[in-house]
This record gives sequence, structure tokens and C-alpha cells, in this order.
Amino acid sequence: MTREVVVSAPAKINLSLGVGPVRRDGYHPLATVYQAIGLYDEITVRPAASTSLTVSGEDIDVSEVPTDGSNLALKAAALLGARHGVDEGVEMHIRKRIPVAGGLAGGSADAAGALVACDALWGTNTAREEMLAIAAELGSDVPFCLVGGTAIGSGRGELVAPAMTRGKYWWVLALADGGLSTPAVYREFDRLHDASPVPEPEVPNDLMTALRSGDVEKLGKSLSNDLQQAAFGLRPELEELLELGVQGSAHGALVSGSGPTCLFLAETETHATQVRDWLSSSVPTIVYAPGPVPGARVMR
Ligand code: C5P
Repeated sequence: MTREVVVSAPAKINLSLGVGPVRRDGYHPLATVYQAIGLYDEITVRPAASTSLTVSGEDIDVSEVPTDGSNLALKAAALLGARHGVDEGVEMHIRKRIPVAGGLAGGSADAAGALVACDALWGTNTAREEMLAIAAELGSDVPFCLVGGTAIGSGRGELVAPAMTRGKYWWVLALADGGLSTPAVYREFDRLHDASPVPEPEVPNDLMTALRSGDVEKLGKSLSNDLQQAAFGLRPELEELLELGVQGSAHGALVSGSGPTCLFLAETETHATQVRDWLSSSVPTIVYAPGPVPGARVMR
């Protein structure tokens, strides 16, 4: 029988996303609180003579996902293979549920999933610190996608430290038609702050207090995203949608990362279905998922 490893890799959201002044290398310093949520891509790898990738979508459009060497998951496999002198190829398939360019780190989740999958397939047993270093080379969100749970992110987002949290939360996700380019949203952020100095970012104290006590109402009030105005600049309709979700009993609402996915916080699964039903006539695609969940994991 052909050896096969299947990994599930969760989407990430940012409960707060503090963005500082652009650095010399073009990245922005971040102070963010990440949470992994139960919306998963599935990455399957098998040994092969040469490397290949196929991608399929479950209720989402994957036509924009590259299947050549520019795909972050294939880059992840190549980087890990090079570290360990692995010369066999890998046949990879990604079954996507995380919207593409949606502000949910779908590409980063696939890269983290590919690292975990190839490490298991090749039996390379890469140490955690080295996995995190390879992940950071691949992208700012990739280390968090390995770690999962709830964590504080600093640097350009690649430095992650687990956060103390209590309880389980439910997130309703309004998926927009078409994605937003992360660099374009950061450029809009720079343009909006052209005339005023941007302070160094901080994680809000009230958010950490809410997470430690598991207080969903407080959490809803302390959600924040410094990229939100920039995302509104590119997608003005998002502002109204957030407002609508709060009218419909969500404890809080914000744009996910660089958008355009919008997030609505609910207390229980039943509450999540109520918020979903309230928004369903205004949004073409809407799902809900619990958080926090663990990072990329081998399923079989
Ligand atoms: O690290 P990653 O490749 O995911 O970043 C994609 C793009 O997002 C960067 O090229 C940059 O334009 C922007 N970015 C940023 N500051 C960060 C993270 C990402 O400006 N902290």
C-alpha cells in the first residue's frame, strides 16, 4: 500500500491586530492575538518520483490557487526536504475549505500543514524550534498555524507565545466574493497613516483580561483590528455588514486580518446559528466555527 499522510490545518483569526509603522524591510511590526478556529484545509502527501500538487475546493473557489512551485505548501515541502537532504518527490493534494485571500491565513495553514505532513512522511522528526524557524521563513503567519490555540504574535507576526485563555468561543464568518491582497491592504494602511505618526503596537489589556476570564461579552467589546479601516477603504460594504451583525446579537464584529472575511462573535453554537441566520440574506456564504483549536495535526 502507498504510504500516505493526511494533515488538517486550521484557519487563523486575529482577535486584535495592532500594526506599527512600516519597517525598512517593508514589513510592519505587529502586536496581535491569534486564535486558530475549526475551519480546516486538509493536506495529503504521498511519496512520488517527482513533486506535484493538486487543489480542490469544498464550497469555495480555488481557481486562484497556484499549483506550481509558487504555492507556499510546495515551498514548505522543498525547504524541509532541503534541510534534511531528502531527495524523493511528493504528490500533494490540498482540499480547501479556508477561503482564498480571505484574511484567514489559508495559504499559511497549507504551508504549516505541508511541513507537518512531509515531516511525518519522511520520518525526519524535525525539532519544534527548527520547524518554527522554517515556518517563519515561509511567511509571517506560518509559525502560528503550526502552534494553533490562542497566542500572542510579535515581530512581523512570526514570533508566537501561547496565551492563557479560558473557554470556547464561536465565530460566525461572512465570506466575501473575491479576496483582498494582503500587501494591498498594508499599502492602504500606510496611505491612511501618511500624515500622522503610527505608534508602536500593543496588545490591549482588556482583551487579555477577557480571554483569561472567558468573558464573551467583554471579549466582544475588546476585539480590534488596525487594518480594518484600510480594508473598508478597499471594500466599503464591509463596514455596514459588521454593524448588521452586532444588531443581530453578535457580541462583537471585526474584519479578519487583512479581510475581506468578517467575523462575528457568538457565545454558543446555538447563538452562532442565530447570528448566521440573521446575516444569511445579506451574505452569500456564511459558516461558523469554534475556537481555539490546535494547530496543524496529522490525522492519519
Ligand atoms: O509574511 P507574508 O509573506 O505572509 O507577508 C505578505 C505581505 O504582507 C508582505 O509582503 C507585506 O506586504 C505584508 N506584511 C506586512 N507586515 C507584516 C506581515 C505582512 O507588511 N507584519
